[in-house]
Amino acid sequence: MEQFTMNNGLTIPAMGFGVFMMSSAEVKKSLPTAIELGYRHIDTANAYFNEVAVGEVVRDSSVPREDFFITTKLFPQNYSYEECKSGIDASLRRLDTEYVDLMLLHQPYGAYTEAWRALEEAQAEGKIRSIGLSNFNKRKFQEVLDSGFVTPQVLQIEVNPRWNQHDIKAWLEPMGVIVEGWYPLGHGDKALIDDPFISEIAARHGKTNSQIILRWHIQEGNVVFPKTTNPIHMAENLNIFDFALTDEEVARINSFPQKAYYDVAEEAPAFVTTPMDFDQQQ
Ligand SMILES: NC(=O)c1ccc[n+]([C@@H]2O[C@H](COP(=O)([O-])OP(=O)(O)OC[C@H]3O[C@@H](n4cnc5c(N)ncnc54)[C@H](OP(=O)(O)O)[C@@H]3O)[C@@H](O)[C@H]2O)c1
Repeated sequence: MEQFTMNNGLTIPAMGFGVFMMSSAEVKKSLPTAIELGYRHIDTANAYFNEVAVGEVVRDSSVPREDFFITTKLFPQNYSYEECKSGIDASLRRLDTEYVDLMLLHQPYGAYTEAWRALEEAQAEGKIRSIGLSNFNKRKFQEVLDSGFVTPQVLQIEVNPRWNQHDIKAWLEPMGVIVEGWYPLGHGDKALIDDPFISEIAARHGKTNSQIILRWHIQEGNVVFPKTTNPIHMAENLNIFDFALTDEEVARINSFPQKAYYDVAEEAPAFVTTPMDFDQQQ
């Protein structure tokens, strides 16, 4: 498993297992198989309502906690300074762990600079090893930089061959911020996965189209955690470290027309502002 090095010197596995839109029952069924296949990096969030299930599976596995890389995220309802401090502790309690490897502010709305201060403090206290942001644009990312002391280790945003994010990545590069790509397979969009040029490269390398897209991510320096409940896809998605795309293949993929699947709005959409009781999960 390839690892990328973050700007605080710690490493992050380039490939992980995303559990967005998985119920706790699905996590309890799928995550043990993923761990058995070799996944050690798990991407969850308090808003996914499955932190308790993730914590249980990790605790009950035969793999030591220190071999896992666990990411969780805090939703804007937790962003006042005090709320954020208790939100961090609540996530640790639900995940049944003394620390998380990475914690992100999930959405760029509300009192996120206050929340950043709480994350910085929790990092200094050892409750969180690395801290970062998700869905922040350059302007809001800069606000966090101006308000705090720590440069985020990670920015998690939508990335796929049709939305390669080269502009913000070039801006982040001098700061050593690692980009994590959500919807790495376009949320399963067949039009992306079955693209004829991707099929042509796949045939050349004896790989599947999904493996070509995931390999492109890795060569672009993107951390990814495709979501799947299908054990065949789980194994397939891990099996991308024994070949490489040529520079010409990467350049051709980078010439795809660009369009986001989901634009992140400047103002918070209604679902972000609706309070949720994150403790209602098991
Ligand atoms: N920060 C954020 O705001 C944010 C937003 C969205 C997502 N995320 C993170 O990103 C992760 C991934 O996002 P996602 O699940 O929505 O999108 P995705 O990984 O791009 O796509 C998942 C879809 O692709 C299919 N798939 C997976 N592997 C495949 C393969 N080898 N061949 C064919 N189809 C395959 C899955 O179906 P099968 O189950 O049939 O394999 C599923 O329908 C999430 O779990 C979450 O951790 C973060």
